[in-house]
Amino acid sequence: MRNIKSVDIKRIYDTNFLQIIRKIVLCYNPSTDKENAMEKKVSVIGAGMVGGTCAQRLAEKELCDVVLVDIIDGLPEGKALDLAEAAPVEKHDAHITGSSKGYAATAGSDIIIITSGVPRKPGMSRDDLLAINSKIMKDVVSKVAKESPNAILIIVANPLDAMCHVAFETSGFPKNRVMGMAGALDSARFRYFIAEELKVSVENTNAFVLGGHGDTMVPLPRYSTVAGVPITELMPKERIDALCERTAKGGGEIVSLLKTGSAFFATASGAVQMAEAILKDKKLIVPCATYLEGEYGINNLFVGVPVKLGKNGVEEVMQIKLTPEEDAALKKSAAAVQELVDAMKKLG
Ligand code: 2OP
Repeated sequence: MRNIKSVDIKRIYDTNFLQIIRKIVLCYNPSTDKENAMEKKVSVIGAGMVGGTCAQRLAEKELCDVVLVDIIDGLPEGKALDLAEAAPVEKHDAHITGSSKGYAATAGSDIIIITSGVPRKPGMSRDDLLAINSKIMKDVVSKVAKESPNAILIIVANPLDAMCHVAFETSGFPKNRVMGMAGALDSARFRYFIAEELKVSVENTNAFVLGGHGDTMVPLPRYSTVAGVPITELMPKERIDALCERTAKGGGEIVSLLKTGSAFFATASGAVQMAEAILKDKKLIVPCATYLEGEYGINNLFVGVPVKLGKNGVEEVMQIKLTPEEDAALKKSAAAVQELVDAMKKLG
């Protein structure tokens, strides 16, 4: 047996030490040395509060690898690295990468969540963002659609329903692959208010909110339940009306509290709920902005209605029976969306 000298011991020690470190790094830093951690890839465009929170929730649920994109130099890279460094503690192996240098990194995405755009400030309505955000949406969609021609687009930017039109027209994607996140957020708000009012778990609640994502949205108390019981049987009409009103103005309530931006935690939850339903082919029924061609008597317009979400995106529009009053409220909301779409077309 050869004499082991101290220099050899040092070499063995160094080699093993390096290997151990490498193993630790591989275990603890998901962005090192592995091509793809997850089977699915979701790109989130816009690395602001909504985009960053979407990336966080997607990764922490280990739904997919995440690419975060923004035009602000360093912002998506910084947020992606920060999220990746949290992975060992949060115990997930999703890759999170950031890019402020274009859209190449998004290539082959299964889903693209588009949050880019300017958020509203106190006193502004979502519609005030029309001109600026439609320009941004056109630019983003033309680029991401080229990189991921088979992706499903989930639009989050406001004014939501009008932005869905821009994305639909710019991408040329079929209607099942373009949808807007609004109903998931609005019904989550309604559910929270119901749970708070009746002092029950949020898990016992279910709620439907239809129409455009604006003040004309239509919360549906008859189809909103606690443990299967419609809330119309659980609280007086004045309380229901107050909760519906608070839901319709829920976005504005947060804007006036935050003062410098709009809601992002619940907004991201809504977008990720939709992404999860698609990635897992859950056939989840959730209200979202979808292109209607005659359903509910509405034509060629993105409006929030309950749909079934699965691997093909919007797999079915669920047609529920509405009372004449509910139907009139939905038509009024649709008319407000149509007005906005017409105004946007005039802008060119
Ligand atoms: C909201 O309702 C941001 O539109 C979003 O808060």
